[in-house]
Amino acid sequence: MTRPQLLIDTDPGVDDALAILMAYEHADVAGLSVAAGNVGLAHTVRNACVLVDLVKARTPVFAGCPSPLVRAPEEDAAFVHGRDGFGDVGFAAPASAAAAEQAALALLRLTRERPGELTLVALAPLTNLALALRLDPSLPERVARLVVMGGAVNGHGNTGTLPAEFNIGFDPEAAHVVFGAFPQFDLVDWELTLRHAFDEDEFDAWLAAGDHRADFYGRICQVARNTNRERGRRGVIAADALAMAVAIDPSLVLRSESRHVAVELDGRLTRGATVVDWTGRLARPANARVVLELDQPRFAAMVRRALGA
Ligand code: BDR
Ligand code: CA
Repeated sequence: MTRPQLLIDTDPGVDDALAILMAYEHADVAGLSVAAGNVGLAHTVRNACVLVDLVKARTPVFAGCPSPLVRAPEEDAAFVHGRDGFGDVGFAAPASAAAAEQAALALLRLTRERPGELTLVALAPLTNLALALRLDPSLPERVARLVVMGGAVNGHGNTGTLPAEFNIGFDPEAAHVVFGAFPQFDLVDWELTLRHAFDEDEFDAWLAAGDHRADFYGRICQVARNTNRERGRRGVIAADALAMAVAIDPSLVLRSESRHVAVELDGRLTRGATVVDWTGRLARPANARVVLELDQPRFAAMVRRALGA
């Protein structure tokens, strides 16, 4: 298999970090465009630079929009990822710095330079992608694939707005733009993430047997693991890592359904929900391939290698 060529939009974020380690182990990374989300943009950009340093890469990092498109967010995810997004363990300032180019412009330029080559992996609120699409609606024609981590396809979300998942709920208007503009994308949702958690002991064994990447990840993931345990979630959950696995190797998908998926923008109790037309009653073209099951052993092997174990 030739190495996948990835362009990653991200808001690191603990599980973003694991996904990005996977990307460097199993693929080539053309750029990291950075969104606000889990924590504020200054932290997410800094964390992206920390990761580039960690893997000794020279990947350009592009800072994006510091806020959602329309409404201020009701919550971030600092209670999961730490106030600095990386578990508040304290890292020295990274040597890498963000490039001067704005993230949305970089997404457009890189896909123009390499039309049809890059898989776009969206691990964050979709603000940067939506801005890029508004500037140039032909973006989807130049992207090999789009994989989105987002949504809760049966309404079991992870935000204060119960049916909404974080990435979509943080910027519903952006998700609406992206879901309406891409004729076809892979959707890796929160509910799938819960079904594909890792056994805690097995994961700890990888961390103990791994290299400097495992040491790093073992440090930053403690706050998130504790928060998830307190919330009654079982195992080690890594939403963005799951989406990255689908981006790197789509043959890991064992079961999926192609459906029309839309985003609720106005609901008093449901803003940010992903509404799936499971029975095809709207007769609208299926924009999303909703991933329903992955090959867990192969997913685990991919993560383990990314930790050097
Ligand atoms: C998604 O939200 C963020 O907190 C994670 O990084 C992931 O992208 C999970 O709902
Ligand atoms: Ca993320």
